Amino acid sequence: MDSSTQSTVFNIPKLKLSSSSGHLNMPVIGLGCAVDKCLRCAVDKSDTDALKLVVLEAIKLGYRHFDTAAMYGTEKALGEAIAEALRLGLVSSREQLFITSKLWCQNAHRDHVIPALKKSLSALQMEYLDLYLVHWPISSKPGEVGFPVPKEDLLPMDYRGVWEAMEESQMLGLTKSIGLSNFSRKKIETILTLATIPPSINQVEMHPVWQQRKLIEFCKAKGIIVTAYSPLGAVGKIYGSNQVLENEALKEIAKARGKTVAQVSLRWIVEQGATVVIKSLNLERMKQNLGIFDWKLTDDDYDKINQIPQHRLIPSDFWVSPQG
Ligand code: A2P
Repeated sequence: MDSSTQSTVFNIPKLKLSSSSGHLNMPVIGLGCAVDKCLRCAVDKSDTDALKLVVLEAIKLGYRHFDTAAMYGTEKALGEAIAEALRLGLVSSREQLFITSKLWCQNAHRDHVIPALKKSLSALQMEYLDLYLVHWPISSKPGEVGFPVPKEDLLPMDYRGVWEAMEESQMLGLTKSIGLSNFSRKKIETILTLATIPPSINQVEMHPVWQQRKLIEFCKAKGIIVTAYSPLGAVGKIYGSNQVLENEALKEIAKARGKTVAQVSLRWIVEQGATVVIKSLNLERMKQNLGIFDWKLTDDDYDKINQIPQHRLIPSDFWVSPQG
């Protein structure tokens, strides 16, 4: 990665999370830290070395929000990159950063949550996270973190046990806020009925081809911010799709506005009051993805986006067990 031409430092706006997380400020764009091989459980040294360089360049560009997970196998690399950034003075303190990690299914059991979080913190070389998410509303037999989870190991989640342990982790100061990922409205309702600390975030697939209108409306009413993952439809991934980047309506808008389709999609997400995590290992695209704060979509643009046929692009059949 050549950073010689880099000069602009972007100032990324922030959204305030709910009062239960102390009105923590979350930068609206974060850098996704899932490397492509995660889903084959084969993250190797070249992947994590590349990620370290990318994180350092991202910090130079102005990224302050980084999104990882126990399952990604990248917590250690992210932690090393941040330690290096602090040593180099690229950021003055840990408090300048917003770090998210996630609880994987094998540890989604009351007594495993805090040990799993402590393991993530140790890999990250950190005292606390800014946000800890339940990665999926699914548990599996305790054991090594891995993907895919064998179907015979899938278990229904003990929502009360898991959420109470998540709350305890916030009360212990191991994380400043807690939230969910891949939770439907119905499952969020379940959590809300038993929560003392309501979730501050629900991170889900969201982009103009899967707009999540009802979920966004529901979360807004409950004070939960939605974070979009795979905002370009997971283009380039083994399970992903180019249906966002190749969408004709988005291409037309991008052409008319002198932006890229990626920028139109990211701008649309942010205009919904959501935050977004996007990965790029390419300096120009990392920069491009931040160029969305000095312009707006028009009513005409919205007319086009609202007509895009809707469907989920990321398969979720890994989670369907023949036993139900
Ligand atoms: P690259 O790293 O080559 O830029 P995710 O869904 O995990 O956030 O991944 C996003 C994918 O989209 C990555 O494969 C990334 O590839 C690609 N990408 C990120 N930003 C852009 C962009 N502005 N234009 C096109 N592709 C992008």
